[in-house]
Amino acid sequence: MNIYRDVVVWDAESEAARRCDVCTENGKISAVKPAGTYAYGAAYEGRGRTALIPGFINAHGHAAMTLLRGFGEDLPLMDWLRKRIWPAEAKLDGELVYKGTMLSILEMLSTGTTCFADMYFFMDSVAEAALAAGIKAGLSRGIVGGDDGAAKLAENLKLARDYNGARGLINVQLGPHAPYTVPFDLMKDIAAAAKENDLSVQLHWLETKGEWDMVETGKTMGPEEYLEKAGFLDVKHLLLAHCVWMDREKMSFYAKPNITVAHNPKSNLKLGSGVAPVAAMNEAHINVALGTDGASSNNRLDMWDEMRYAALLQKGVNMDPSLLSARYALRMATKNGAEALGFSDTGLIREGWAADFMLIDLDMPHYAGWDLENLPGYLVYAGSSADIMTTVVAGSPLYHMGEFPGLDAERIIAEAAEARKKLI
Ligand code: NI
Repeated sequence: MNIYRDVVVWDAESEAARRCDVCTENGKISAVKPAGTYAYGAAYEGRGRTALIPGFINAHGHAAMTLLRGFGEDLPLMDWLRKRIWPAEAKLDGELVYKGTMLSILEMLSTGTTCFADMYFFMDSVAEAALAAGIKAGLSRGIVGGDDGAAKLAENLKLARDYNGARGLINVQLGPHAPYTVPFDLMKDIAAAAKENDLSVQLHWLETKGEWDMVETGKTMGPEEYLEKAGFLDVKHLLLAHCVWMDREKMSFYAKPNITVAHNPKSNLKLGSGVAPVAAMNEAHINVALGTDGASSNNRLDMWDEMRYAALLQKGVNMDPSLLSARYALRMATKNGAEALGFSDTGLIREGWAADFMLIDLDMPHYAGWDLENLPGYLVYAGSSADIMTTVVAGSPLYHMGEFPGLDAERIIAEAAEARKKLI
């Protein structure tokens, strides 16, 4: 058993923070008791000045794109994909994807992420990287159309057979890239395969303005009818990345227990795609999670940044500071993404829930004046991922004070830099 003594616990369902002793055992939180309950025994000493909050769940991304960071800056989505990203990605292989993913895992662990969604190719390599590091992941093979669309679906199903549930760290979804890259018939096959195999689905959805005009059946079907006719509404869980151009009139359609929107505020800003109407989604009771998207459209994999951007953007564009509270921003960054990736009992600090959390140094100057009531605002608006001392996944500290126990960070960074040269 590990004891975190006298830490300041806050999660998305706490009214205020509270001083607790937190114990972990077998990858789970085994006790959350008032501080001082465990007076004896070896423990991490929080001394009432270390916050303990749930680990972030990065609900949308392409981890190995860390290799393409800084490549194709300042272009709109379609130019960026066609002229820069897709030609470079054609040179990828399993080894390069492994190296890029390991690099992304270092960055994610050091910024508090304990679970990440990924849609890419050579996904065996991504699964192996996640298992080697001990981080949790929801993985899908990015499926696009063409002659080998069916083979890509078969590859995604094989990924599920090989890795679904591996060591409690990996869950597999099906990953049709987007309605403008996947023919409607293939979409129907993917939805049918998802139901047959009890798998969830993640895809890009309504990311850019005018994108729907590129959809094969876009003239005859609106987005909501498309989802229904393709057969996606009754899959286990449907994770829709972006939804920047979701029609406000149609929002109630998406308020379903098996649908989650992954909001990627920084990627949407950087690619000039717009700002997703998240405040309206909240009002319509849509489950909204947060993601970074790939490192070449962000360019960070820092969920703390996303949490702050998400909150500030809705206040700003709607000219209403009461929208998207600090507590709700944390909920989006933690609990709201868990179910879609197959990790229930994840994202809150509770007995029996996953021991996935981070420790935050409240002695940093920008926390002066914090108390148990105001801590949420201090964390979301004043804090940053630089304040994270430790990131714990399934009870194991995978990042601690600038070090990655069990990983050769120096080598991972050097190998990724070499891999990048091969691509560009
Ligand atoms: Ni994406």
